[in-house]
Amino acid sequence: MKLCSTIPEVRAACRAVRANRKRLALVPTMGALHEGHLSLVRAAKAQCEAVAVSIFVNPTQFGPTEDLSKYPRQFDRDRQLLEKEGVDILFAPSVDEIYPNGQVTWVLVEGLSEKLDGRSRPGHFRGVTTIVSKLFHIHEPDAAFFGQKDAAQLAVIRRMVEDLSFPVEIVACPIVRESDGLAMSSRNAYLNPEERGRALVLQRSLQQVQHEFQAGERTSAQLISAAKKVFAREPQVVLDYFEIVDPETLDPVERISQKTLVAVAAYVGSTRLIDNTVLDR
Ligand code: PAF
Repeated sequence: MKLCSTIPEVRAACRAVRANRKRLALVPTMGALHEGHLSLVRAAKAQCEAVAVSIFVNPTQFGPTEDLSKYPRQFDRDRQLLEKEGVDILFAPSVDEIYPNGQVTWVLVEGLSEKLDGRSRPGHFRGVTTIVSKLFHIHEPDAAFFGQKDAAQLAVIRRMVEDLSFPVEIVACPIVRESDGLAMSSRNAYLNPEERGRALVLQRSLQQVQHEFQAGERTSAQLISAAKKVFAREPQVVLDYFEIVDPETLDPVERISQKTLVAVAAYVGSTRLIDNTVLDR
């Protein structure tokens, strides 16, 4: 695995791959890798001849009161995991390498960036789309792999790629869960044992919605009310949002007649967790 810390180095490594007519995949991450990330790497390896992974805890997508300084960092472990998976190129730049002059140029997907997590975390998606555009320009990948767990991020990135004509295929990979159903997330590491138990309410609320949908309920208001009853039984978890939306526009859907996204975010202690499921006819 070639380890690169500068933009010219990683650009040259990626161009060499593509000069050999190999299809290049990019898996952008913020490190603290878990099985969810590794599933992206495996999907990338199955679909492309060479895989690049980036590890960069991107400061511009964290708000001033968020967890940038305590975000888990475990570079040596991450590097070993990626080596084992047979990753070809690892890009792990410093903040100065990526933002040498601060940042005054932004990529913003208007509207979409203010929905779901974008409403709760102002500026978050502007930071995500800016870094993802930079990573696309630096690596010039043929395909990029993202987790379905970050469904709103996926919608924002897909729209950016479409609007800015990036020649990149965006591949979404299924949510990977712990054995008890908790969606894998680097932030799960913040949970103490009691919080870890309480966090399962996110998955339970989504299962309740799936159950009522399978039984024939199609009205979003009814489904949301059923989910909120599940949350009411776990009062120490504070619901941020529970929404039923179009997966592309993230606009609320009143009656479900096609593929629809059910997305939830909640605070378990001070840790904000997200999860989602898709309702399909
Ligand atoms: O999903 C993430 O880990 C981050 O938002 C991403 C896409 C790597 C951008 O920093």
